[in-house]
Amino acid sequence: LKVSFFPTMGALHHGHVALVHEAFSYSDLVVVSIFVNPTQFNNQEDLKNYPRTLVADIERLKKVGNVIVFAPSVSEMYPDGFEEINLDLGQLEATMEGTFRPGHFKGVVNVVKRLFEIVRPDYALFGLKDYQQLTVIKFMVRALNLPIQIVAFETIREKSGLASSSRNGNLSEVEKIQAEIIYQTMMTARDLSISYSPKEVREKAIQFFNRGHLKLEYLTIVDPITLNELEEWVLGARLCIAAYCGQVRLIDNIELMDLETIA
Ligand code: PAF
Repeated sequence: LKVSFFPTMGALHHGHVALVHEAFSYSDLVVVSIFVNPTQFNNQEDLKNYPRTLVADIERLKKVGNVIVFAPSVSEMYPDGFEEINLDLGQLEATMEGTFRPGHFKGVVNVVKRLFEIVRPDYALFGLKDYQQLTVIKFMVRALNLPIQIVAFETIREKSGLASSSRNGNLSEVEKIQAEIIYQTMMTARDLSISYSPKEVREKAIQFFNRGHLKLEYLTIVDPITLNELEEWVLGARLCIAAYCGQVRLIDNIELMDLETIA
């Protein structure tokens, strides 16, 4: 019996549901956890405002079929005496989200490790949208020698290109349109990457982005494995971006140097 596990923080959208369907194609059981993990929020306002829609989430999953939902409380996840691990993530947390959200990845590593211990899956699903998180989780699985296969899934996008995210629910209609600049910037960078160096692409992409209404936190082009900022192109080079659209923090990323771009 193969078990797939999809850890989420709830506020499920059509993207999550599509993925659960897919997980049934290679496993007999699909477990979805719904837990807004307080330890990965460095901003208490963000934690407070994170959408929580448990009843609707369960209704959505019921329609998919025989999904096991695990929605623990904070005290179940972190009982008295719970001991955190301190995995040295090195560069993987010294950049991007790690810089702007201190302690975030320590929280993610700990909650995911605990969830893995409870669910004991064969496969665990993580979205490419949180690219740095995916890289950190893969590192953790290797470092702790866990017998779990990490399955990365493509970012699900709205028609406008905006990455589907539970946070989009906090955007007004106008902000949703303004947020399209993220995808447009990524597409522009992709085109530019054929002719320019990573540094030049970064500069031009930032200029393009700043024509819009969002407030940029970072826009960087990194090695897909080490997450070091790139001087020279490598296969799989990834542009990662984080910005505020009004009060809502959005992140996204795209592969710039794939075989198609190079050919
Ligand atoms: O990506 C998320 O939703 C969360 O970081 C995760 C993996 C469920 C851990 O809380």
